[in-house]
Amino acid sequence: MAWLRATVARFAYGEVHVRRREFVEAELARIDVAGLRPVGRVGVVRALAGAMGLPELDEAAVGALLVVAANYFGGEDPAADDAVRLLLPLMGSDAEQAANRIGILVQACDATAALIEGVREFGDVHAALRFAPPVRVMRRVALVATRVGDVEIPAGEVVELEVGALGLAFGYGPRVCPGRAVAMALAGA
Ligand code: HEM
Repeated sequence: MAWLRATVARFAYGEVHVRRREFVEAELARIDVAGLRPVGRVGVVRALAGAMGLPELDEAAVGALLVVAANYFGGEDPAADDAVRLLLPLMGSDAEQAANRIGILVQACDATAALIEGVREFGDVHAALRFAPPVRVMRRVALVATRVGDVEIPAGEVVELEVGALGLAFGYGPRVCPGRAVAMALAGA
């Protein structure tokens, strides 16, 4: 799990982030989700994996993905290490690309399932994003001491940014969600 976190775009910065992010964007650009109408996070993960040309994910693989998703942003569950081991051979031979494919599926599952639920409740994607944004906060670790407005932020501090309330449901800037178009298409359908 520690290796996975150290190898995905999500937790990298600078040039390494740019390189991994390019891979993620290219991977998502070649996906065709027309005609897919997944329900729930299991449906989302299976539909995306299929569209990415990965081998069909059986129950064990889907379960492993959900365990990784639950531990992605922290946690020491040893089951997550086993889950990464189970998933890696399904994701292709290049280790960095394989890790980032897992990253794509993990990032997609809960947020997209929540967006689909929101569409059911509020009628369309735009209303869902407005009234029930699936991601409410983004977290950052300050690499150096800095100041934002009146707030002093020491190096190493974890900072939470409330994006949902600002209408930035897919984030903003160099790390804006690369899955936006795919998620909108899936939830719209
Ligand atoms: C097909 C579905 C999705 C995929 C494949 C996906 C993929 C990703 C990936 C790989 C990142 C990390 C980007 C980076 O670090 O450069 C990311 C970030 C993000 N995603 Fe998505 N995502 C999906 C759905 C969603 C949905 C439905 C939402 C909310 C409406 C969402 C909100 C965000 C936000 C706010 C970030 C930025 C997080 C941060 O920087 O802290 N994503 N997404």
